[in-house]
Amino acid sequence: MIAIVTGASSGMGAEFCRALDSRGYESIWVVARRADRLEELAASMETPCKVIPADLSTVEGLDSLASELRSGRFGIGVLINCAGLGRFGTSWEVPRDDTRAMIDLNIAALTDITHLCIPFMERGSGIVEVCSASAYLPLERLNVYSATKAYVRSYCNALRKELKPLGISVLEVSPGWVGTDFIALSKSGADVPDRVFRHRVAAEDVVRTAMRDLDKGRKRSVCGAYNKLQVFMCTHLPSVASYVWGRSLR
Ligand SMILES: NC(=O)c1ccc[n+]([C@@H]2O[C@H](COP(=O)([O-])OP(=O)(O)OC[C@H]3O[C@@H](n4cnc5c(N)ncnc54)[C@H](OP(=O)(O)O)[C@@H]3O)[C@@H](O)[C@H]2O)c1
Repeated sequence: MIAIVTGASSGMGAEFCRALDSRGYESIWVVARRADRLEELAASMETPCKVIPADLSTVEGLDSLASELRSGRFGIGVLINCAGLGRFGTSWEVPRDDTRAMIDLNIAALTDITHLCIPFMERGSGIVEVCSASAYLPLERLNVYSATKAYVRSYCNALRKELKPLGISVLEVSPGWVGTDFIALSKSGADVPDRVFRHRVAAEDVVRTAMRDLDKGRKRSVCGAYNKLQVFMCTHLPSVASYVWGRSLR
């Protein structure tokens, strides 16, 4: 059995790989654009890793992963779709290319990779889709990003039902802010007050919680009491949650 992790070159993706290292997979396939970071990660792991440098926001990148999949005979024990991208700004301030890249990576690539991997899975296999607490509320100045994650949430909910008869689990991982490169990249020059990120948690904690929730066959993984409260508020008191978000930005 192999494991596949996208977005493995940094942050939570790299952390997921380290968490999988002691789980007896014959190989872990690590996918992202930065080959040097993937090679570095692979060198630090006990489990043999297959490094697949690919820009998953492009058809060529997705095809290169597809051809690797078609070239072998193996089962996929776990797929972790962690590659993702966010950009702060109003819908018209975020450059068109960045907006398209968010949709291509967060929605199209995640869906395509899941579709590609399911035929290689069997009873007991699992799919982890890294979503976000932002999936639970339309967020001003993170509009397209939160909409892409709302897609992931919706997709997970129906996929779980589709795969249940096959014994394949689907875990939605929905963190609030996490201390990774993602925060600086998503700000990308935009003026965002630091207080927005004050409840951020460590990537290690998100991944530890997610692996535990995967083992328990849970549907959703939200790390930390503050983030659980946030998801609760977004679900049950969305106008209050929206007000609090807007205030934190000003
Ligand atoms: N950090 C947070 O506050 C937070 C909160 C909620 C949800 N999330 C979600 O968590 C996931 C992981 O993010 P992170 O926090 O670990 O941030 P990160 O360290 O920036 O990781 C993002 C990963 O995605 C990869 N990636 C980006 N664009 C790609 C592309 N076009 N093709 C292939 N890979 C690409 C990056 O690798 P390369 O640059 O090498 O390609 C990197 O490995 C994302 O889905 C994000 O939306 C993050």
